[in-house]
Amino acid sequence: MKVLILGSGGREHALAWAIARSPRVSAVVCAPGNGGIAQIARCIPVDLKNLDDMVRLVTAEAPGLTIVGPELPLSLGIVDALQSRGLRVFGPTQAAARLESSKAFAKQFMKRHQIPTAKYSVCAHASELEEAIALFHPPIVVKADGLAAGKGVILCESRNIALEAAHGLFNGSLLGESSQQVVIEEFLEGDEISFICLSDGTHIAPLLPAQDHKRIGEYDTGLNTGGMGAYSTDTMLEPQMTEWIMRHIAEPTIRGMAEEGTPFIGVLYCGLMMTPRGPEVLEYNARFGDPETQVILPRLESDLLDVLEACIDGRLDQTPLRWSPGASACVVASSAGYPASYKTGFPLTGLGNAAQVPSVQIFHSGTARVGSQLVTSGGRVLCAAAQGDSLREALSRAYQSLAEIQFEGIYFRRDIGYRALKAKP
Ligand code: AMP
Ligand code: GLY
Repeated sequence: MKVLILGSGGREHALAWAIARSPRVSAVVCAPGNGGIAQIARCIPVDLKNLDDMVRLVTAEAPGLTIVGPELPLSLGIVDALQSRGLRVFGPTQAAARLESSKAFAKQFMKRHQIPTAKYSVCAHASELEEAIALFHPPIVVKADGLAAGKGVILCESRNIALEAAHGLFNGSLLGESSQQVVIEEFLEGDEISFICLSDGTHIAPLLPAQDHKRIGEYDTGLNTGGMGAYSTDTMLEPQMTEWIMRHIAEPTIRGMAEEGTPFIGVLYCGLMMTPRGPEVLEYNARFGDPETQVILPRLESDLLDVLEACIDGRLDQTPLRWSPGASACVVASSAGYPASYKTGFPLTGLGNAAQVPSVQIFHSGTARVGSQLVTSGGRVLCAAAQGDSLREALSRAYQSLAEIQFEGIYFRRDIGYRALKAKP
């Protein structure tokens, strides 16, 4: 089968790598892809913001399966558009993807189905803000309703700051685009866990739990980024905790979506805060996490194509997932200046040696091929992902591999996994 993957990041590189391992896959196409993905898949340019462009490309390629990586095409309705043309596609419909594309929808949905989440208020107009914010104690979280590429959440130390931020979302001064609705939310404290599941609309299969590192600086300081590293271990969640999250969060979500006539088929990513009251949902995503996918998929022993097709065909319950034991980690290397402004076009070297380290994969996010040379083309450039018997072993392999790679201004955090190592050295 020919499989087409939409997207261009490290997540899509990991998806392409895992799909290419399936004996049933004859060719992998990625649109638009990147310099690293081009080594294992044919890459074709496409505008991920343009539904018609994507539909034209997939129709012309006529793959046996299309996998949608990022949230934007899902929110534009790529799955509905391809399905209506008789094309097979893995991902939620536009209506189901609202769990990610509208935070107001997600909060109201959780309330309807008694799914634990922070207390909140949805404001549809700036005139409602003052009264709403008065009901919360600082720190207060202010969120744009729609997709904002990680920039739509503002943690506010006082009611005044919250009011100013919420006005900024409504009038467009914060995100460049004005929000139609703003969510005011209680601040939650605890460890964050990415609890990512597959669903066929009825059945649910949790993937391995993971934790990502969103801040640019060591020990979680500085600006938020797309993710500077992640890890996953067998001991991150006790079996009883996994069961609790399934019963109180994942299952009611999938059941609720089916009951409301918008069954969710695809990847349900529950971003959880492990609060003293128990796990609560911070956000849903309707897709694989980045960089969580780079630590999860290398530990998947089952055939990814079989698993994704089982979701589409409603037989996930007959397709158990098998995992390799131990731990995995990935460390992201970024361009100097990221997540603020940065330069690109610097040549990369040492990739051959980096790939020689055992149980390591190099997944690219911001690289491009210029002639025969691989150069940087984004803020997050690539990650070294590694597996091991322990988290320590996985991290040591990832760092050993990354030490071989050079490009001007290379930066990476040296503390990935520190919380887990502190808890269990
Ligand atoms: P979101 O885009 O909703 O995932 O939020 C991005 C990040 O903001 C989360 O991963 C959390 O670190 C933080 N965040 C979101 N909501 C809250 C909350 N209610 N309390 C504390 N932190 C939050
Ligand atoms: N790692 C966070 C995300 O994929 O949204």
